[in-house]
Amino acid sequence: MAKRQLKLGANLNGVGNSISFWRHPSVPINASVSLDFYKEQAKIAEKGKFDLLFIADGLYINEKSNPHFLNRFEPLTLLSALASVTSHIGLVGTLSTSYSEPFTVARQFASIDQLSGGRAGWNVVTSPLEGSALNFGKGEHPDHALRYEIAEEHLSVVKGLWDSWEDDAFVGDKAGGVFFDPSKMHPLNHKGAFFAVQGPLNVARSRQGYPVVFQAGSSEPGKQLAAKSADAVYTAPETIEEAKAFYQDVKVRAAAYGRNPDHIVIMPSLGPIVGRTQEEAERKYEEIAELVAIDQALLYLGRYFEHYDFSQFPLDEPFPDLGDLGQNSFRSTTDKIKREAKEQGLTLRQVALRASTPRTGFIGTPEAVADQIQQWFEEGAADGFNVRTVVPNGLADFVELVVPILQERGIFRKDYEGGTLRSHLGLPVPQNRYAKTAEQV
Ligand SMILES: Cc1cc2nc3c(=O)[nH]c(=O)nc-3n(C[C@H](O)[C@H](O)[C@H](O)COP(=O)(O)O)c2cc1C
Repeated sequence: MAKRQLKLGANLNGVGNSISFWRHPSVPINASVSLDFYKEQAKIAEKGKFDLLFIADGLYINEKSNPHFLNRFEPLTLLSALASVTSHIGLVGTLSTSYSEPFTVARQFASIDQLSGGRAGWNVVTSPLEGSALNFGKGEHPDHALRYEIAEEHLSVVKGLWDSWEDDAFVGDKAGGVFFDPSKMHPLNHKGAFFAVQGPLNVARSRQGYPVVFQAGSSEPGKQLAAKSADAVYTAPETIEEAKAFYQDVKVRAAAYGRNPDHIVIMPSLGPIVGRTQEEAERKYEEIAELVAIDQALLYLGRYFEHYDFSQFPLDEPFPDLGDLGQNSFRSTTDKIKREAKEQGLTLRQVALRASTPRTGFIGTPEAVADQIQQWFEEGAADGFNVRTVVPNGLADFVELVVPILQERGIFRKDYEGGTLRSHLGLPVPQNRYAKTAEQV
């Protein structure tokens, strides 16, 4: 039997998801809005035989936001452009269920799926930032539980719309004058608590059936949504123990829904810092860490807690007690920050610098980083990783130095075998629900 294969995503972030990355001399200052930059990164990832490109997103900024968040491409627009300069790699974009209409979302992702030959994926998020409501004229930002209720219905509507057409619906019989078979076109006629959508969708299914559904959000309802309806999960554990617990939890929940646990791919975030020696890797980290000003680090930390003002507290005393603050924003992340600060007796300064400076355990020589990846992969902590660029040329270094080791060890592909994102991830093509019913009758 073929050896189980690691999955790799390239989480592309322009001038970086750390606050100081943009200040490094070798980072192009316009990277977040440079098509050339993204094209180059996409080509590096495809050269490295990565499964997918991954574009995160947000819907609210203010003067305290991360530099990359202030001026960046909308994910689907960017991925459409990248589809035409790549040939195999998957294209996963983030779009919020709290501030979008399922019909538009289904249509946009189905279009990218068609135009890329079955390489699209949707990262389902619920929008953690309260200010997002101010940009959509919809009144109050829905609370955490309500956001997940909306997400569940939204996602089921989108999937329903993606099945609007059976795969052989478009007959294209020029001589007979038959463009399509009306019995294979299916309106959805959905009327639910949050959405009313008749359908059908005006785009057919792609080679991979429909786009791969990612989910990002690790709280109880987040995991439940993933287990029920997602093909892949993006998560951000800090230790292998935490990752194993999450992995096991989601797989068990998926099985409880009658799903094959292998068909939900768990991809933690990975911020590798690779040097030819351990010292070189440490130096690369220091170069970025030294650029962080503590007031910026406090702003970064504050964003997770509704842009809370941490500058009111002394820096070198224990992290303050915040009560329920953060429950309605990035809940799983804020819970973790509070828990670790308490358990490890961290000061505010330590918490802020840790949150804002992307030092992970994956720092060292190519072999050392490959060893850790292999350990997480083989010990049930991950099916793959979503690789973030946390030092300049981070993706290129990873592709050049770490990928060949993973290939040599037989846990990562040397070349693409299929052409769709589902085939890269080892996911089956979902059968059209109406065709299935017809066959079962
Ligand atoms: C690893 C990870 C990545 C996320 N990426 C995004 C993102 O790109 N855009 C977004 O609006 N929210 C993102 N979220 C936020 C979630 O969608 C959600 O709104 C928030 O985390 C609260 O859900 P949770 O408590 O279930 O984690 C992400 C969450 C996690 C854990």
